[in-house]
Amino acid sequence: MSLIKLDSISKVYGFGDATTIALDEVNLEIDKGEFIAVMGASGSGKSTLLNIIGLLDRCSQGKYYLNERDVSRLRSRKRAKIRRDNFGFIFQSFNLIGTMTVLENVSLPLAYKGILKINRYKKASTMLQKIGLQNREYYLPHQLSGGQIQRVAIARALINRPSLIIADEPTGNLDSASSESIMDMLKEIHAAGNTIIMVTHNPDLTAYASRIVYMRDGAIVEDKPLKKNEIVDLERLTKEDQEAVEEEAKQELIETKKPKAKKSSNKKSKKGKTK
Ligand SMILES: Nc1ncnc2c1ncn2[C@@H]1O[C@H](COP(=O)(O)OP(=O)(O)OP(=O)(O)O)[C@@H](O)[C@H]1O
Ligand SMILES: [Mg+2]
Repeated sequence: MSLIKLDSISKVYGFGDATTIALDEVNLEIDKGEFIAVMGASGSGKSTLLNIIGLLDRCSQGKYYLNERDVSRLRSRKRAKIRRDNFGFIFQSFNLIGTMTVLENVSLPLAYKGILKINRYKKASTMLQKIGLQNREYYLPHQLSGGQIQRVAIARALINRPSLIIADEPTGNLDSASSESIMDMLKEIHAAGNTIIMVTHNPDLTAYASRIVYMRDGAIVEDKPLKKNEIVDLERLTKEDQEAVEEEAKQELIETKKPKAKKSSNKKSKKGKTK
């Protein structure tokens, strides 16, 4: 039984001439305890995929099964409840609440669960200690550096001990020391049996993952297990991206030459009809 099963999921934005097919009939199964690295060029659909898996957005077509339950058409309130109970999000843009201290921000998800304030603060404080920010508990977000904000946001995402972590470039703007501490946290969470889906542009980070999913033009073009500490051959994959772009350009050129051919064949068929 898979934790997550995407069955021919598509996501289309806009309509008419402005239509973008962000996901094109994606099939994906994820088991509990996997650590998936999602990679691919900018615009290939990675964040869209994560948003759908994280129930932040709904697919246009297809079915999404979470623990065998069809969640593809749930109303927003039900989706919010599933998110709160199961998922931890780590995104590129973090939004801490500016008027709350670091400690209050980190403990906030526990408030939604009805845990007493004293216990919330205790847990948040332990979490902050783990990421080396215990001396910033009473700071406001604007008094922190970018990297510190990111770490606080990550602490907040993880405090509920969510069984599924959805991370979109979690170490995007961090220096290498902070990146390492975040990746170590994720590694620990994974080792405890939780599932992680992480978008990254950094091939070195695939050393932490158990599987790579590579996307191109809204489709998964490579999906395979990774050995321990294996680093993905990103050079080969981006070369294949380039070849795909060139192939597409060639096809477009052929298409632009086609109308003439079409017209003549139309004439033929009309002739055929009049006969
Ligand atoms: N809200 C939206 N409205 C219209 N188009 C969108 C929207 N969100 C994403 N898209 C389009 O869908 C496609 C996939 O976007 P997505 O954000 O999933 O890419 P990505 O792989 O995460 O890229 P990046 O590496 O730059 O973050 C892009 O062509 C993008 O322009
Ligand atoms: Mg993205």
